[in-house]
Amino acid sequence: MDAKQLYTDKADTYLVFNSVFRSRQALQAFFESYDGLRPNLRILDAGCGAGAATLALAAALRRRRLEAAELCAFDLTPAMLSRFRQALARENLHGVKLLEADVLELQRLPPDWTNYDLIVSVAMLEYVPRPALATALAALRARLARDGRLLVFITRRNWVTKPLIETWWQANRYTRDELVSAFESVGLGTPKIRRFPASHFWQNTWGHVLESDRVTHPVRGD
Ligand SMILES: C[S@@+](CC[C@H](N)C(=O)[O-])C[C@H]1O[C@@H](n2cnc3c(N)ncnc32)[C@H](O)[C@@H]1O
Repeated sequence: MDAKQLYTDKADTYLVFNSVFRSRQALQAFFESYDGLRPNLRILDAGCGAGAATLALAAALRRRRLEAAELCAFDLTPAMLSRFRQALARENLHGVKLLEADVLELQRLPPDWTNYDLIVSVAMLEYVPRPALATALAALRARLARDGRLLVFITRRNWVTKPLIETWWQANRYTRDELVSAFESVGLGTPKIRRFPASHFWQNTWGHVLESDRVTHPVRGD
C-alpha cells in the first residue's frame, strides 16, 4: 500500500496513535526549549499530516512570545490535510498556508515557497523509498534560506519500532549513521543530534532528531 492510500484509510487511527503517544505535546515541549527559534522565521512543515508539528510550533512560539513571519506546510494526502484544516479552525489559528505536495516533486510548489529559515519534517521521510532519501533531503535543502536549518524527526531502527512503525505503519527505519551520511551527502553538513526533553523521554525510543548545519552556500541550482 502506498503512503497516500495508507493515510487516507487510516487518518483517524493515526490521530489516535499520536494522541496515545502524546506526539504533539512532545513536539511542543521540544520547541519550547529549542534554541533555533527566533522572531520572524519563515517556517515550512514538510509532510505535515494533520498538523502535529505546525500546531506544536505555533503553541511554542506563542509561549515564547515570538511570531513567525510565515508558517507553511505541505503533505501528500488530502485526507490528512483536511484533518489539519479542521484543527486550525477548531483552534482558531489563522494564516497557516497548506498545500498538497509530494516531497519528491517539490518543483511543483509555488515559486515563493522557498527561502525558509527553518524546515521541520516529522515522521514523513520514512515513507520516501530508501534510495530516494538523499533526493528528498536535497529537495528540502534547496528550499532553505541562507543560514536556514533543516530539522528532521525520523524513526529509529530498533526492536520497538520494528512492529510498531515498520509493520503497522509500513515505514522505513534508519540508524543514526545512515542519516548522518545522507545529510552529509547532500551538503547539509554533519547534523547535530537533538533529543526530546526528559518529560517526553519515550519519543527518543521512537525517533532520531537531526538538525542540519546552517546552509551558508548557494542553495538554488548549486
Ligand atoms: C506519520 S505521518 C506524520 C504526519 C505529521 N508530520 C505528524 O508528525 O503527525 C506521515 C505523513 O507523511 C505524508 N507523506 C508520506 N509520503 C509523503 C511524500 N512523498 N510527500 C509528502 N508527504 C508525504 C503522509 O501523507 C502522512 O501524512
